Amino acid sequence: MTDAVILVGGLGTRLRPLTLSAPKPMLPTAGVPFLTHLLARIQAAGIRHVVLGTSFRAEVFEEYFGNGTPLGLDIEYVVERSPLGTAGGIRNVADRLRDDLVLVFNGDILSGADLTALLDAHRRCDADVTIQLTKVDDPRAFGCVPTDADGRVTAFLEKDPNPVTDQINAGVYVFRRSVIDSIPTGRPVSVERETFPALLAAGARVMAHVDTGYWRDLGKPADFVAGSADLVRGLAPSPALPGAPGEALVLAGAVVDPGAVVGGGSTIGAGCRVAAGATVEASVLFDGAVIEDGARVSRSVLGFGSRIASGAVVEDAVIGDRAIVGARVELRAGARVWPDVVLPETSIRFSSDL
Ligand code: GTP
Repeated sequence: MTDAVILVGGLGTRLRPLTLSAPKPMLPTAGVPFLTHLLARIQAAGIRHVVLGTSFRAEVFEEYFGNGTPLGLDIEYVVERSPLGTAGGIRNVADRLRDDLVLVFNGDILSGADLTALLDAHRRCDADVTIQLTKVDDPRAFGCVPTDADGRVTAFLEKDPNPVTDQINAGVYVFRRSVIDSIPTGRPVSVERETFPALLAAGARVMAHVDTGYWRDLGKPADFVAGSADLVRGLAPSPALPGAPGEALVLAGAVVDPGAVVGGGSTIGAGCRVAAGATVEASVLFDGAVIEDGARVSRSVLGFGSRIASGAVVEDAVIGDRAIVGARVELRAGARVWPDVVLPETSIRFSSDL
């Protein structure tokens, strides 16, 4: 039976400060750690054996998921003492693999892709590697993957400023086991920058499988909040969504005053409080966050136990755990507040008159 490998060893620097205390795949997303959504999809595809390639905060994964039985999975963990990169991480789990076909996932991709169709395509083409592709409007920030008429990959152009195609690497692959064994050991190796280009240069059979279903890389704050909102609203399918899809997911133990407006796919974590007159739009509140009266929070992530005081405005921002945004402070456009920081009342305002 096919093995699944999930790479979860990255530092998640683009999501700091949220990832200072928790690895990116463990951040609460629509009510559960993000990785739960991916594991549930893997289980739904009939795969049971999952190996997590961990490094940064490795212990957190096993503490939470254990041997995987509650999810109907058999989960193993392999720790990299220092991060080995994406291909190094795949190579590092080789001795745990049980099958000749290995499905590999980046641990921060939210996708509705049909995994059975991907595996079928790989078998049909008798490929060495099959790369799942998705199409995006602006491919410049991604790995661009042109293909020929037969669906064979012709190049692998990482973060090309002049992309030749809108097809990008979706961060899901099927590997033939022998290809994994050929990845060098003992040093960091990037699958995108080293392994794929080397396979192409060596004439390996690297095929593409285009899936046009839901796809989003949750590596940046704006995508993290948008992906979470899409899960809550049912636009991104997940068997692990705790509750029915809707405009807001309010977890048990959260208190939302009837005079507050909460929508846009927001998640209100356990123990959160949202006061009357507050507005929460398309945002993620980790457990214990508090929003006081009249505050407005849009497209933002509020860390564990953080507080947004009366009349404050928080838009497109990331607020670290336990940080306090004082009354009438205004934070916008990519603002990040580090854990435990206190922004005093009205200390930061934006004016459109300047
Ligand atoms: P940034 O620091 O914000 O770029 O995030 P990241 O460290 O997660 O890197 P990136 O988004 O490029 O990683 C894609 C996926 O590969 C994520 O799920 C990471 O956890 C995982 N990953 C990245 N580097 C390593 C590594 O060295 N080892 C392992 N096991 N996984 C990795």
